[in-house]
Amino acid sequence: MKITFFSAKPYDRQFFDRYNEEFGFDMEYFETHLGPHIVNAVEGADAVCVFVNDKVNAEVISVLAKKGVRIIALRCAGFNNVDLDAARSNGIRVCRVPEYSPEAIAEHTVAMILTLNRKTHKAYNRVREQNFSLNGLLGFNLHGKTMGVIGTGKIGKAFCRIMLGFGCKVVAYDLFPNKDLESEGITYMSFDGILKESDIISLHCPLTPENHYMINKETLASMKKGVVLINTSRGGLINTADIIHALKSKQVAYLGIDVYEQEEKLFFKDLSGNIIDDDNIQRLMSFPNVLVTAHQAFFTEEALSQIAQVTLNNIRQLGKGSEPQTPSAVLV
Ligand code: NAI
Repeated sequence: MKITFFSAKPYDRQFFDRYNEEFGFDMEYFETHLGPHIVNAVEGADAVCVFVNDKVNAEVISVLAKKGVRIIALRCAGFNNVDLDAARSNGIRVCRVPEYSPEAIAEHTVAMILTLNRKTHKAYNRVREQNFSLNGLLGFNLHGKTMGVIGTGKIGKAFCRIMLGFGCKVVAYDLFPNKDLESEGITYMSFDGILKESDIISLHCPLTPENHYMINKETLASMKKGVVLINTSRGGLINTADIIHALKSKQVAYLGIDVYEQEEKLFFKDLSGNIIDDDNIQRLMSFPNVLVTAHQAFFTEEALSQIAQVTLNNIRQLGKGSEPQTPSAVLV
């Protein structure tokens, strides 16, 4: 069975080649993302394996179907980039990795909070230049602060538990509150309550049409002056123009983002020699109190191992005509 990979980075090859020893698939890797420009290069593949920024629209799917591709395997959880109806009507199965190491993302969220607050990135550079002064590095204790968590699914839950360990008062908002977390000391409240009460707010809900731009001019104005805002979820949850304004007015004291609404043009690429034609990201990166990481929260040894194993297993099961063990792994 042959699998053609798109958006394949060296680390993808490393993990997929390692785990393919058990599966024995014929693997072909393309560095470019999948889209109409390259779909004709697919030859003799039974499955294509794609990531978050591949464009798997109806046009691409119809070519894949004509070329005999039977499976589209996402090596990520989100699937907003795949036209599921087109896959269904072309008889192509679609699978994903619904869960891989939620702790990886939760821990990166903590790293962002600590970096912004304790300024370890600045301290590192300062000390290397023999500047041992502490001026400008003042932080605050997380212990005793109110941590607002929006979305307490797999990642939000892991994050809540870590923050309880820091001695934070953890308050949360979710459409479906989790009883276990309540018994562990998390207090659920309304979305507005979170905005008003929290010293730090961390977003862990998926991007849906309902919550697109949930962080906007109005909701930012309801937050405490000097709030810390962290988004490791999806860029479209935050209105970028509004957050820039809130940073300039000091309503938001610190912003940490691992995701950005226009990230597909930037993230996962080395653009160090390019002129970036996106004034919003340039403005965000110019603030001393903003930390941008390029969608790396998932990027741990454990998560990549799990992604490779689950993806290859999904393809094997669907290829044999049976269903993967986790029902939510199958989209079509
Ligand atoms: P999950 O499905 O386990 O949990 C999401 C939770 O959000 C659910 O409890 C749901 O009820 C809640 N929710 C949905 N809409 C909401 C709203 N409007 N307000 C409040 N809560 C709402 O998902 P999981 O695995 O925890 O992932 C969360 C998000 O993290 C993903 O949707 C994805 O966008 C992001 N993610 C980011 C990664 C990164 O590397 N930065 C990697 C993996 C996921």
